[in-house]
Amino acid sequence: MAVITVTNLKKRFNLEAGFFARMGRFVYAVNDVSFSIGKNETYGLVGESGCGKTTTARLLVRMYESDAGEIRFQDTTDVRALRHGQLKTYREQVKYVFQDPARSLNPRMSVYDVLVSGYRYSSRWPGEKQARDEAAAMLEEVGMSATDLERRPAEFSGGQRQRISIARGLLLKPDLLICDEVVSALDVSIQGQILNLLLDLRSRHTLSFLFIAHDLKVACYFCDTIGVMYRGELMESAPASDLYRSARHPYTRMLFSAAFYNAGEERAEAASAAPLRGEVKTALKELTGCAFTERCPFVTERCLAERPPMREVGAGHNARCFQVM
Ligand SMILES: Nc1ncnc2c1ncn2[C@@H]1O[C@H](COP(=O)(O)OP(=O)(O)O)[C@@H](O)[C@H]1O
Ligand SMILES: [Mg+2]
Repeated sequence: MAVITVTNLKKRFNLEAGFFARMGRFVYAVNDVSFSIGKNETYGLVGESGCGKTTTARLLVRMYESDAGEIRFQDTTDVRALRHGQLKTYREQVKYVFQDPARSLNPRMSVYDVLVSGYRYSSRWPGEKQARDEAAAMLEEVGMSATDLERRPAEFSGGQRQRISIARGLLLKPDLLICDEVVSALDVSIQGQILNLLLDLRSRHTLSFLFIAHDLKVACYFCDTIGVMYRGELMESAPASDLYRSARHPYTRMLFSAAFYNAGEERAEAASAAPLRGEVKTALKELTGCAFTERCPFVTERCLAERPPMREVGAGHNARCFQVM
């Protein structure tokens, strides 16, 4: 059974505000995206900055409203149609851990108040004493101490703050935890610790993950299944081990080689991988052809004229490319 199933999801942002909005210039941030995450599965959404990962995540928790498509939770709930109380309950089951722990934790609150801020207004609030016990246990589970409840987030390091965010996400025992670049802002040594913590939590709880990352190798290490996004579209999806061994889409291959080059800074420069660092321009008009044509070494007339469909190229392995056999 799938925890969440996304079908042909779309979201565009208007580039112009007010009167100029009528000129209709849009950023096609999420363009026809489909995927599904099973129970206990970790799905990795990977792609360069600006490809639409965060927008996809925010659509899932209805921080943004989608323009089209379908989001189904537990096969039955139509997420786009949820109202008020139902939406609140849904948001207890699908939790979002933000990229930047410094900005997502209110510095004036104690760790305890940060952890229970959502809980307190839920129908499941068990009272102050019980909540404090649960918060303490959760804090210990993420490798911190119960006495940290009285301290303030600002007193902690980036890695510890991210542990607090994760504890907050897990406190209500959600079915799906969305981790949006949770290690990107951290030092490499700390990144490993947080990833290990997530692996540990995953083995102890029945928990599905949407793991968002721009680093394909990190995602392959951590995830069961990977979806590679480019300019708002999914270009390839496959079991992580399969993708690692035999990526088929030219873009995925480029990402793997970039991950390789990023290991050494000078080589990164030498690889002239300029677009691989920094933000890729998102499509400003609805594309007729493939989204990747500008950077693809194998582009043909057909790629420019016609959008390739997502096609099965192996067991559970799909790619959006005419060239892949
Ligand atoms: N609230 C917004 N208003 C306008 N444009 C946005 C908004 N959020 C994201 N975008 C644009 O949508 C595209 C996808 O952004 P995002 O989902 O944040 O990408 P990622 O998380 O992969 O870096 C980018 O071009 C970004 O500038
Ligand atoms: Mg993002």
